[in-house]
Amino acid sequence: MAEHLKDSPSVTAAIADAGHALRNGRLVILPTETVYGLAADASNPEAVAAIFEAKGRPRFNPLIAHVADAAAAERLAVLDGRARALAEAFWPGPLTIVAPIRDASAVCDLARAGLDSVAVRVPGHARARAVIEAFGGAVVAPSANRSGRPSPTTFADAVEETGASAAAGVDGGPCAVGLESTVVSVLGGRVALLRPGSVTAAEIEALIGPLDRGAEEGHRSPGRLTLHYAPDAPVRINADEARPGEIFLGFGPGSGDPRWSLSETGDLKQAAARLFRLLREADREKPSGIAVAPVPAEGLGEAVNDRLKRASGFVG
Ligand code: TXA
Ligand code: MG
Repeated sequence: MAEHLKDSPSVTAAIADAGHALRNGRLVILPTETVYGLAADASNPEAVAAIFEAKGRPRFNPLIAHVADAAAAERLAVLDGRARALAEAFWPGPLTIVAPIRDASAVCDLARAGLDSVAVRVPGHARARAVIEAFGGAVVAPSANRSGRPSPTTFADAVEETGASAAAGVDGGPCAVGLESTVVSVLGGRVALLRPGSVTAAEIEALIGPLDRGAEEGHRSPGRLTLHYAPDAPVRINADEARPGEIFLGFGPGSGDPRWSLSETGDLKQAAARLFRLLREADREKPSGIAVAPVPAEGLGEAVNDRLKRASGFVG
């Protein structure tokens, strides 16, 4: 469906317009602290189908339901003690919890890809919660990129990717985190890390004890496809320098051209926030490839390396 993105006169008007569009079953560009989302009414199968169409996304890949607070999440999902402890510590914020579904009608079957679990998150960005409140229900929102491409971390990038399918959108500025939320499943008494993100495994374990390594297989995120987050140019990781025709994304002092550095000071938070934007900007130069310096894999570096590996087509 070709849409015309409404040009609202103010942020307040844009939020109201977004709520209205969601109630009418239309799609909305949603700012969050992680990446921009393409949002729809979670209970409306036609609206959810429009997301899959706009993204060119495989339908077996379930979506995250975004709600304004933990009480709203509890109405959708059954959160046990550990899930509640995670919610209390990290919401609002970049953590998604996969838990057994409580109210199947609030998040339609298509949005859950037929699973009897549901992914829930309370976003940290105040404008995301304002849109959800203006709408008055749960919204499902995958990243606003076309399937397989880097997630958008600015409003302009989101509009370029999927704006043609959205009836409204809210500009929330550049995303502070820049990587998608950490996804943790809390199912049948087991806790598994399904997608690394800025809430790290160490932070989760400090709170609720060891993750069940090995439970990932059973709880596996169907969305973790091989080639993902990929620009058009091939990505080569753990590179020391550029080969002819490549753009080199450095990390740390003296690593390549500062213009293309993930972080000149070697700051992982900055690297996470800049990664997708730099991949996009590099791609626009139409290089023969994008070479990326090694990034240490500790803490937030685990999530950065996860996205880099997938962008380069390597799956571990
Ligand atoms: O930061 C984010 O999470 C962003 C912003 C917009 O909130 N959203 C996002 O959504 O990254 P998406 O659709 O690109 O990623 C959702 C991930 C996928 O890997 C999907 O397979 C997984 O969550 N997921 C969703 N529901 C699941 C379920 N019931 N069981 C296992 N994995 C699930
Ligand atoms: Mg995505």
